Amino acid sequence: MNERPASRTDGAVVELRPHTPASLDPLLRWKNDTEIQRLSGDERRAFTREEAAATLERWMRPSDDIVHLAIGLAGRAEPIGFLHLALIERAHRRCRLGIVIGEKDLWGRGYGQLAAARAVDHAFDVLGLDRITAEVFADNPRSVRMFENLGFVREGVMRESIQRDGQRVDELIFGLLRHEWAGSGSGRGARR
Ligand SMILES: CC(C)(COP(=O)(O)OP(=O)(O)OC[C@H]1O[C@@H](n2cnc3c(N)ncnc32)[C@H](O)[C@@H]1OP(=O)(O)O)[C@@H](O)C(=O)NCCC(=O)NCCS
Repeated sequence: MNERPASRTDGAVVELRPHTPASLDPLLRWKNDTEIQRLSGDERRAFTREEAAATLERWMRPSDDIVHLAIGLAGRAEPIGFLHLALIERAHRRCRLGIVIGEKDLWGRGYGQLAAARAVDHAFDVLGLDRITAEVFADNPRSVRMFENLGFVREGVMRESIQRDGQRVDELIFGLLRHEWAGSGSGRGARR
């Protein structure tokens, strides 16, 4: 549950930042990566630079019901990934977290978990929400493990939720509540 040893992240500090034009080149690469398309449920096709620019422009526009953030490492200008707190519903104080570490050579080193933990802090502390949902394809063990490590509870499964490569794939529903985070080993206090 706790932050992993510095050796896995080489002591790098993970930051969440507003997107800037510096996100465009990496975003174009990641959107055209077939493995990332498959794991994140993005459309599986080639994306043009103009399409990526339009996506980024949308992500940089302020919105009441979605927060898009770049995942960065201190001292490195280009982001290593992105996340969003989507479907923000003030009335029900809830949202849905989605995350991609686009730099595949950095997978499995703890950056996703650190970034997601900061996003959880943002959702609970800054946005004042009480619940975060995450939906994960059942054949994505790295993502499942990351959310479990953070204390998300597996609440259910949407059976045969999507169509991929001629097969139906289940999607798992994870949920995290504000009071669980406050009392967990992953919460803000444990990482300072
Ligand atoms: C999912 C994702 C955000 C996780 O970020 P990450 O930095 O790779 O993940 P972390 O290193 O923080 O945690 C991954 C965990 O899975 C474990 N893991 C890695 N490969 C695994 C595998 N094949 N089977 C089971 N567990 C695995 C790691 O050991 C680690 O667990 P540990 O800390 O207990 O050892 C990132 O891999 C990613 O962007 N993948 C592509 C897009 C995607 O899947 N997005 C999520 C959509 S819900």
